[in-house]
Amino acid sequence: MVGMRAITIEQPGGPEALRWTEVPDPVPAPDEVLIEVCAAGVNRADLLQRQGHYPPPAGAPPYPGMEVSGRIVAVGGGSHHWQVGQDVCALISGGGYAELAVAPVGQLLPVPRNVPVEDAAALPEVAATVFSNVVDVAGIRPGETLLVHGGGSGIGTFAVQLGKALGAHVVTTARQGKHEALTRLGADRVIDYTVEDFSATVKADVILDIIGGAYLAGNVKALNEGGRLVVIGMQGGRKAELDLGALLAKRGSVFATALRSRSLAQKASIIRGVREEVWPLIDEGLIGPVVHSRVPLPDATEAHRLMESSEHFGKIILTRP
Ligand SMILES: NC(=O)c1ccc[n+]([C@@H]2O[C@H](COP(=O)([O-])OP(=O)(O)OC[C@H]3O[C@@H](n4cnc5c(N)ncnc54)[C@H](OP(=O)(O)O)[C@@H]3O)[C@@H](O)[C@H]2O)c1
Repeated sequence: MVGMRAITIEQPGGPEALRWTEVPDPVPAPDEVLIEVCAAGVNRADLLQRQGHYPPPAGAPPYPGMEVSGRIVAVGGGSHHWQVGQDVCALISGGGYAELAVAPVGQLLPVPRNVPVEDAAALPEVAATVFSNVVDVAGIRPGETLLVHGGGSGIGTFAVQLGKALGAHVVTTARQGKHEALTRLGADRVIDYTVEDFSATVKADVILDIIGGAYLAGNVKALNEGGRLVVIGMQGGRKAELDLGALLAKRGSVFATALRSRSLAQKASIIRGVREEVWPLIDEGLIGPVVHSRVPLPDATEAHRLMESSEHFGKIILTRP
């Protein structure tokens, strides 16, 4: 059997559960391509998968990694324009922490102008998540206020930039040490959530929330009339009481969405939107990947420890040794 190497999860557990191991080469099916991975993005969900709390969707490789960049080295057939030799980045449903990864053609994006191939691995997950929620779901409009929780996260650093580029007034929450960098990224106001209750002073039209339960009441309080709250993470718990009276008085909406479990057709549609509306902004240099560190792929344990510490600002990527 031909074997590539990938980071596998020996037993669900801590970062030390990650192992650089030989596994069978993935084979692209029709409408898929095989990518020689240059870099893979690390996402918070990978930590949950490692702990055994977030199994990959059916059919996805068992090892982690939801986004990669690299070169197409084989095409599985089907009718599309992607070719061997093209540099791409891709949203995938698993198996990105590897030397080779398979991606559906509908989830491929070209490497943007002026972005190194390696750094492009930091883009697909945040671009697809932020675009689909802030633009598609919440329909942000120029002049509106966007509140981004966790501005220093991979998701947050992209949401702050995209919000500004789309003409929103951007408020974000983060620990003090990340404030200067967030202001440089374009945030109009940064709140230290460890000492200040955002809901006492913020009024937002759109809220992108990664905290969930612990912030639900505060988020509803912070919504403007007609405001839209989109919950995409549950770092602060999955349950909380929703005050419908407070919500209906301001005609507010609460959405909760996940990207990974969506159908191929839905992901392809999101990626089309990203390519049409977000990629030109990256090509023009108005927004871009924020890469905190590049860790060699075999040292994924170190990358997971770093993410668990929350000392990073933006994305951590794993690079081919
Ligand atoms: N639903 C979806 O489709 C989807 C897709 C992608 C990601 N997500 C979710 O989005 C979140 C971010 O993902 P990521 O990969 O970008 O993670 P990440 O880089 O590890 O960021 C996590 C962030 O949480 C912040 N944080 C912790 N407690 C906070 C609080 N009480 N208030 C405000 N911020 C707080 C930390 O900021 P400080 O250092 O400032 O504390 C840190 O920046 C995760 O919850 C992930 O599951 C959801």
